[in-house]
Amino acid sequence: MIYLDNSATTKPAPEVLKSFQSVAMNYFANPSSIHEVGGEVEKLHQKARKQVANLLRVREDEIIFTSGGTESNNLALKGIAHAHLNRGNHIITTQIEHPAVLQVFQELENEGFEVTYLPVNSSGVINMDDLKKRLNRTNYISFHYAC
Ligand SMILES: Cc1ncc(COP(=O)(O)O)c(C=O)c1O
Repeated sequence: MIYLDNSATTKPAPEVLKSFQSVAMNYFANPSSIHEVGGEVEKLHQKARKQVANLLRVREDEIIFTSGGTESNNLALKGIAHAHLNRGNHIITTQIEHPAVLQVFQELENEGFEVTYLPVNSSGVINMDDLKKRLNRTNYISFHYAC
């Protein structure tokens, strides 16, 4: 088989599988638990966090482990949109995002954000003039929280 879909799922490296198997078999406790195994799992979490932070050259407190892509998209997109409200409520994305991304933007629209969905060409690339036109647009829609 010639597998060409690594951007969706990548075959795990043997050393990753070995490590996963060892942790899943020997350290399956909840890292928040106060018992001994829980404490050991928490230490493994901290070690993994440190390794990932070093690889990405970021601070350890910038690493957040999630259950997968959908949760990560929600956390990142909603988090950034809300954290930067003082810079405006206009978001620009493309029409070809994954449903787990598009649905987050639809939720943000329901909250009052204005979202522009740019078209792409046959290579999946946006037109820079389209983008410039949208960047220059003044946005008068005020943001309100839908609680
Ligand atoms: C961009 C993107 N977001 C989200 C997902 C869904 O990921 P998960 O099934 O881990 O929630 C995928 C899956 O291919 C994806 O490519």
